[in-house]
Amino acid sequence: MHGIGGEFEPGEVWRDTDGAPIQAHGGGVLEYEGTYYWYGENKEGVTDPETGHLAVVGVSCYSSQDLIHWRNEGLALPAAPDDPAHDLHPSQVAERPKVIYNPRTRQFVLWLHVDSPDYTKARAGRAVSASPTGPFTYLGSVRPAGFESRDMTLFQDSDGAAYLFFSSDWNSVIRIARLTDDYLEVSDIHTEAFRSPQRNTGRESPAVFRSGDRCFFIGSGCTGWAPNAAEYAVAPSPLGPWEVKGSPCVGDGAETTFGSQNTFALPLAARPGAVILMLDRWNPRNLSDSRYVWLPLFVAGDTLTVEWRDRWDLSAFDGRP
Ligand code: DGJ
Repeated sequence: MHGIGGEFEPGEVWRDTDGAPIQAHGGGVLEYEGTYYWYGENKEGVTDPETGHLAVVGVSCYSSQDLIHWRNEGLALPAAPDDPAHDLHPSQVAERPKVIYNPRTRQFVLWLHVDSPDYTKARAGRAVSASPTGPFTYLGSVRPAGFESRDMTLFQDSDGAAYLFFSSDWNSVIRIARLTDDYLEVSDIHTEAFRSPQRNTGRESPAVFRSGDRCFFIGSGCTGWAPNAAEYAVAPSPLGPWEVKGSPCVGDGAETTFGSQNTFALPLAARPGAVILMLDRWNPRNLSDSRYVWLPLFVAGDTLTVEWRDRWDLSAFDGRP
């Protein structure tokens, strides 16, 4: 089990400080004032054996000082069971929540992928809170700059500018839109990357981070819940130009990203060059038992490397460039 001796155990059940399995899938981590906050999809419940749908529960929040022991802070953004027209009604789809802090407005800003069960709604929802643990107030959804938005992430750059990266045009392109200064809308600054000629052959599960003067993008291919090979790219700025580099994974299991799909890359502020790659190992028949795979990601110049570990702690980064 995770936490014994303070180690990550990728793929094993990860329990919170109350002993319950953590429910924070497709998630991301925000570091704020010395505490880490992990936001993700709460997938408690039964996966419909016919449709594969799991009723929306809401966005969970957990807090931690050491990234291993996580306290359940409850639902930061709950589902809206009383309003069938609401994006967060249990009958809908709500995935990949990400939160950033806006120092100008002193608000925590959450974006997530909201969709219909057939994934044709393809919108991005926004919510705000004065506290990292919520409750977040839902502000409705948009088609960013008028485009479809499915898998997405937020990236807050070192200059304070924030960006929405989203799979668009039936997962044939990643669009990148700079957010307005309050982080609540997309601005008219936007571009695209990694265009593929056909539907569902582009990139999903975008994760973006900066290391020094380089930005990195990591994404999966488009095979639903089934794992595939991750691919990464490097650019001088979030808006590109992006140079595709290949898979960051090496060793056994590299071709399926170790049976998982990246969701977020967390650079550790205290350790330059040290990044935790957060991934999901989905269980489509029982989504609530999907597992977390967190692995050390090494940055050396333009090159990213990640390999499997049965267990590890932050000393994995000791002595690395
Ligand atoms: C792949 C996406 O990355 C997931 O977030 C989820 O939407 C599945 N597709 C659903 O099949």
